Amino acid sequence: MTQILQTIAETKEALAPIRGAQKASGRIVAGRIPVVERKLALVPTMGALHDGHRALIRLAREQADIVVVSLFVNPLQFGPNEDFDKYPRPFEADLAILEEEGVDYVFAPSVEEMYPDLEHLTIVSAGDAGRILEGEFRPSHFDGVLTVVAKLFNIVEPDFAVFGEKDAQQLALVRRMVRDLSFPLEIVAVPIVREEDGLARSSRNTYLSAEDREAALTLSRALVAVAAASGEGVSAALAAGREIYEAEPLASMDYLELVDAATFAPITEEFHGVALALTAARIGQTRLLDNRQVTF
Ligand code: PAJ
Repeated sequence: MTQILQTIAETKEALAPIRGAQKASGRIVAGRIPVVERKLALVPTMGALHDGHRALIRLAREQADIVVVSLFVNPLQFGPNEDFDKYPRPFEADLAILEEEGVDYVFAPSVEEMYPDLEHLTIVSAGDAGRILEGEFRPSHFDGVLTVVAKLFNIVEPDFAVFGEKDAQQLALVRRMVRDLSFPLEIVAVPIVREEDGLARSSRNTYLSAEDREAALTLSRALVAVAAASGEGVSAALAAGREIYEAEPLASMDYLELVDAATFAPITEEFHGVALALTAARIGQTRLLDNRQVTF
């Protein structure tokens, strides 16, 4: 049974014995470091769970003894004209998936529980790296993401937390925050889960009409085109991707860029190594993201 936790206090109380057991089960053998036997994993989500989320939960289930999934549509990471109000919240269906995946606890707080004073809130800044790519189109989005993720880390105190490569910039910024603010946990990444035709799974795919669903393939097709043209150099590869967008009137590209996969720094024509092609586009009212590794 997945136990539902709605407040910070009850979550800390429910998880305290697990951490206590961790210490108790650590056997001290002739002065060696105690063996930690019970691992706690956190999978942060905004709900409307799909196969992408399931992949994260399965990895957590495989590697941890106790799995906590958080389910919280975080108002801080939505801009004023974004889809916070209409973001899907199918709580019962989500709960059924969590049960099926053998999740121990779901932390599903209210906005008031997480942010009692939303007007005067301490926030985590993503800095410069939060203002490029997605950050250029969604100002303060990553500050909102890092603030809620930091808070979730402090509430759950997991040994590791699982994130998807689908949101590559988010993953990079969370890793950086963990390093910069010395959070005592590990970040584990899971590759993008796609539909059979290549569309990256997303909670926002449910917004797409049949026509939009077809046009949504432009993102993954553009990335495949970038990879296929990588032998011709960086600008030729990007041009090949942009051509795919130009051929689809229903897709409106926000960006298609190549960065160094290790540092997220922009790459030059002379770049050799593993790059990440990142794209975002609007299909009707729906904004979608995708990315793919490209070797030059
Ligand atoms: P959400 O969009 O619900 O995604 C939760 C996690 O699932 C993220 O780590 C995301 O990268 C991963 N994910 C989503 N679709 C995926 C796919 N197709 N393949 C692999 N992983 C996928 O990302 C958020 O929520 C929020 O920003 C959050 C981190 C919870 C903070 O509010």
